[in-house]
Amino acid sequence: MSAGHRHLLEIDDLTPAELDRVLSLAADPSPRPVLAGRGVALVFEKPSARTRHSMEMAVVQLGGHPSYISGIEVGLDQRESVEDVTRTLAGYYWLIGARVFAHRSVERMAAVDWRPVVNLLSDRSHPMQALADLLTLRQEWGVLAGRSIAYVGDGNNVCRSLAFAAAMAGMDIRVASPAGFNLDDADADRVAALGGALVRTEDPVEAVAGVDAVYTDVWVSRGEEAEAATKRDALVRFGVTAELFAGAAPDAVFLHCLPAHRGEEVAPDVIDGPRSRVWRQAENRMHAARGLLWWLAESAPPAGHGALR
Ligand code: CP
Ligand code: NVA
Repeated sequence: MSAGHRHLLEIDDLTPAELDRVLSLAADPSPRPVLAGRGVALVFEKPSARTRHSMEMAVVQLGGHPSYISGIEVGLDQRESVEDVTRTLAGYYWLIGARVFAHRSVERMAAVDWRPVVNLLSDRSHPMQALADLLTLRQEWGVLAGRSIAYVGDGNNVCRSLAFAAAMAGMDIRVASPAGFNLDDADADRVAALGGALVRTEDPVEAVAGVDAVYTDVWVSRGEEAEAATKRDALVRFGVTAELFAGAAPDAVFLHCLPAHRGEEVAPDVIDGPRSRVWRQAENRMHAARGLLWWLAESAPPAGHGALR
């Protein structure tokens, strides 16, 4: 029954050429109704403001019908197995998007392979965010290759997908995190395999020196509440203050996937300052999602209804 569907569990499930095509479709203001009569299942084990609504509106703009499904309702591995939920939803929906605690859950959904599966954030990765991040920088600079970005803070899901995406786009990426919180050697190897060179440091000043963009994310991700105090203590020197941001290039832009904690990982005068692009970045979640879904529909045009016929 495996059909060889294209899945997006991490940004490098796309080739660089495909990534470029998705970003071009994201920038196209006249989407075609490629999802007319189709549904997209959006399963969320964690809360969301941007991901849920950007996906819902992207599906609508392509002529399809989005269905929000709370994790509690379907009970992944509680009410029934991840695989059985996936097979059931695959019978009704053209594509399954899922925000999960354990990355393994989206891997298991993709392994069923009855429908394309898109990772809407796991503990390991956030490829839909990385698409919007590149789209935002492309709008800013035109060409991404040769540009540089520093991520300061927790080397988390957002950081990892950003590092891979930046490497695919030919950008230099530096990550500043306290010992034990940076990306690991396997991540650095994967960046290298994508043609990039990941610079990891414990010095935020070194990381941001002269870069074209500075990025941060929350210090405590959802699902890490038990480690909150430890992480906040470890990351206290890693906030993006105006003083730190001043070390980047004079026209450098600031990015944050949101939600933000002003006064923690970013100072109010940076995130609310003239070089912040966070609201454009947030809106771009919808345009990027539309580009990705459009590309998937082009790659595997929906035929008939149901997964078994
Ligand atoms: N950036 C992001 O994924 O935001 P939400 O958690 O609100 O979806
Ligand atoms: N890294 C955070 C925010 C992502 C949008 C999390 O996983 O909750």
